[in-house]
Amino acid sequence: MDTTGTGSPSGESKYSRLIEPTRVHGSLYTDEQIFAEELAKIWYATWVFVGHESEIPEPNDYIRKKLGLQDVVMTRDRDGEVHLLLNRCAHRANLVCDDARGNSSSFRCPYHGWTYRNTGELLGYPYNKGYGGKNNLDLTMGKVPRVASYQGFVFGSFAQDGPSLVEHLGGAAGEIDRLANLSPEGKVELTAGWLQHKTKANWKLLTENETDGYHPQFVHGSIFGVTGSPIGALYSDASTAVTRNLGNGHSENDLRPEFRKFDEPMRWFGTTESRVPDYVEAIRARHGEDAERILVEGAPHVMVFPNLFIAEIQVFNIQPVAADECVQYATAVQLAGAPELNKRMISQSIGSVGPAGMLLADDTEMYERNQRGVGMLAPEWLDVRRGIHREQTDENGFTIGTATDEVGMRGFWAHYKKLMEADQ
Ligand code: FES
Ligand SMILES: [Fe+2]
Repeated sequence: MDTTGTGSPSGESKYSRLIEPTRVHGSLYTDEQIFAEELAKIWYATWVFVGHESEIPEPNDYIRKKLGLQDVVMTRDRDGEVHLLLNRCAHRANLVCDDARGNSSSFRCPYHGWTYRNTGELLGYPYNKGYGGKNNLDLTMGKVPRVASYQGFVFGSFAQDGPSLVEHLGGAAGEIDRLANLSPEGKVELTAGWLQHKTKANWKLLTENETDGYHPQFVHGSIFGVTGSPIGALYSDASTAVTRNLGNGHSENDLRPEFRKFDEPMRWFGTTESRVPDYVEAIRARHGEDAERILVEGAPHVMVFPNLFIAEIQVFNIQPVAADECVQYATAVQLAGAPELNKRMISQSIGSVGPAGMLLADDTEMYERNQRGVGMLAPEWLDVRRGIHREQTDENGFTIGTATDEVGMRGFWAHYKKLMEADQ
């Protein structure tokens, strides 16, 4: 298939030809031109997850992050406001900030010593007579124009205007709330540090997989078997869990129907009330009559378009590098006021997504095999029709399917197509 043109004689757009309701074209994962368009129309246009406010808790804290291919510095200024600065000097484009994180009200470029406030404003430059004196230059560091956070999750958008973050999150916002509700203080903290897994695969293979309930029984069969984990059953053909298209490209595996069946507090976490008594008591004290539901239903499994994945007790930040490469940043969820749980979440995360972890390694093997597969010439298409004949609409108007259906992928592609077809 010729994927180079922007339109066909019939007026059909390039992306209409590549994305159909039940299949998507393999070139979407390999074509460098498409990757460049994704940077412009998704990564540098829509809301993208960057980091969490708890990573820069104090005034003047900063931490370096990625947004698409951009090297950004997430700073908190002296008044507490969060900024996303592009790490580029306004003089001759050197990288301004070197350290991975720290606390400073200003940054000094190592090349010729220009200094900037942590809001991006130029403070000074050496030997200022060369510029006719002090404060004579109308230059600043670049900034991500819109920065907003939700439950402390910081997102940036290069679009000057457009939907607000809350509008973008739509149906996914409530899932992030569910995570925060599991904290006895109502606060998520992403302070455990991020593992970085470089992956030779297109970023979309990861986002599509995050709510693919069809693969766990096969890809993760070994870890489920070795650990005697009940997770596999959540994704069986007999599971009552639901896959939901939350709109705007977001999707979730809603495991609550399975946990409600057992009606046991903390089963979602693979433990019992008696093992984490202080935590359970703190949640009961905070939530009153809602506490039992919260303790039974547990944490969300939600993919927020395009790059934030909350997998119950881990958070992932997926950032693209090239058409065939991305980085998965992974961290353990930490909940304010839940020390018992926090320790367990760190050790469980080491076991599942750490360097020798058993869960993420399985998925990554699949991503990289997939990337090799999409390079083959035939049959050209990837099939996403699973369960389309049994889709339903839930009480909130969202499309749902069974635990193993490809509802999330279809939602992802519908939104992707809309963004990629938008005029700029
Ligand atoms: S490039 Fe930064 S001071 Fe010259
Ligand atoms: Fe998986």
